[in-house]
Amino acid sequence: MINLRPLTPEDIPNLPQIRPTYKSSSILEVERSGTGLEIGWRLVERDLPQPFDKGTLYDFDEIAQAEIRARLERPDDTYQRVAESSGLLVGFLDIELQSWNDTAFLWNLMIDLDYRGQGLGRRLWHRALDFARQSDVRAIMIETQNTNVPACRFYARMGCELVGINEVYYTNDSSATEVALFWAYRLPGYRPSSRR
Ligand SMILES: CC(C)(COP(=O)(O)OP(=O)(O)OC[C@H]1O[C@@H](n2cnc3c(N)ncnc32)[C@H](O)[C@@H]1OP(=O)(O)O)[C@@H](O)C(=O)NCCC(=O)NCCS
Repeated sequence: MINLRPLTPEDIPNLPQIRPTYKSSSILEVERSGTGLEIGWRLVERDLPQPFDKGTLYDFDEIAQAEIRARLERPDDTYQRVAESSGLLVGFLDIELQSWNDTAFLWNLMIDLDYRGQGLGRRLWHRALDFARQSDVRAIMIETQNTNVPACRFYARMGCELVGINEVYYTNDSSATEVALFWAYRLPGYRPSSRR
């Protein structure tokens, strides 16, 4: 049985119990077209000769833990839940309100390697949706990498739309593999008059 409960300060050093890494056998490559101001971007899924391996780059290191702690100290703007199984952390949801544009940004939705494909990501996603609805925001914003095809499929399945590409988000190196993809989930029923 997997229990969802609020994150506590004592959980933060234990977040590395969750293994958030992924491998992907394909990548969403960016193809550019056009010149000047008339530029087009297109994503093309390509199989890789070797699976892309995220390795330790998603791990909850000290910097990530400090950022999570800082959000925990702003409870009015943040919703953080852990999933626990037999005393072990196996999933994490971390979403924060962005009042300047009336949205919520999903910082983390991470399920441990051994607990994927069992509906836990969907359970946490629905918690994020409930928080966004109760906070009266107009959309949830999400960032993924073009190498994270499993997460892209998950967000597409959850009803999110791919809304942008940023080739300079992680590096100035134009030959780098990873590109940022931005997703949005527009909340039905949102009315501008209900702005906080
Ligand atoms: C992406 C992630 C959160 C999905 O969590 P999960 O618990 O495996 O997802 P669920 O089992 O709840 O799946 C929910 C739906 O998404 C679909 N889905 C999930 N992973 C999928 C995949 N790799 N390929 C295709 N569909 C997928 C499922 O088929 C399911 O649809 P259904 O309920 O209609 O059958 C999880 O794989 C993960 O933690 N990945 C590593 C960290 C990460 O990339 N997080 C997102 C970073 S932005």
